[in-house]
Amino acid sequence: MKGILYPSSNVIFAAQTENPAEVKPAADPAMATNPLASTYGKWQAVENSALAIAEAAILLTIGGRKCSNGLDVPLKNADWMKLVQGLRDAGMKVYKAAQAKSQDDIVATAGDLTEACDSCHGRFREKPSIAERCK
Ligand code: HEC
Repeated sequence: MKGILYPSSNVIFAAQTENPAEVKPAADPAMATNPLASTYGKWQAVENSALAIAEAAILLTIGGRKCSNGLDVPLKNADWMKLVQGLRDAGMKVYKAAQAKSQDDIVATAGDLTEACDSCHGRFREKPSIAERCK
């Protein structure tokens, strides 16, 4: 969540307001911490961030992992698997928008992505207490 989904989403969200093609490369692109200004920058950074999200979805289906409250990741819950698939699908939609270098399509598909994150958070994360998560 914090290592892949959050930073990758931010690259996509940034592309809604600033045209990736116009991002200035960093002084040393090979060492840039902003993907958009890196060696693999501009629209390529948006493509790569979308792929990172789409490819990370499957990590949420690996058995033997725990949520922060110690409960197993709810792999046996059909809602979980459906919401993971929603994340994968939204990531691939953003990827196509980035390949097309269309800021309009990024705005539209970033909406799908936000919805995919929010739907799962609503179902499994936003709870009165951490103990209630992942059920
Ligand atoms: C299939 C379900 C699911 C999807 C999809 C999902 N998340 Fe999460 N996310 C969770 C759960 C569950 C937690 C809480 C995990 C825990 O407590 O161990 C979480 C936690 C987080 C956190 C840490 C916040 C905190 O206070 O614990 C961040 C940041 C986050 N998600 C970002 C994202 C983003 C960005 C997306 C979409 C690109 C996303 N997530 C999609 C289920 C999901």
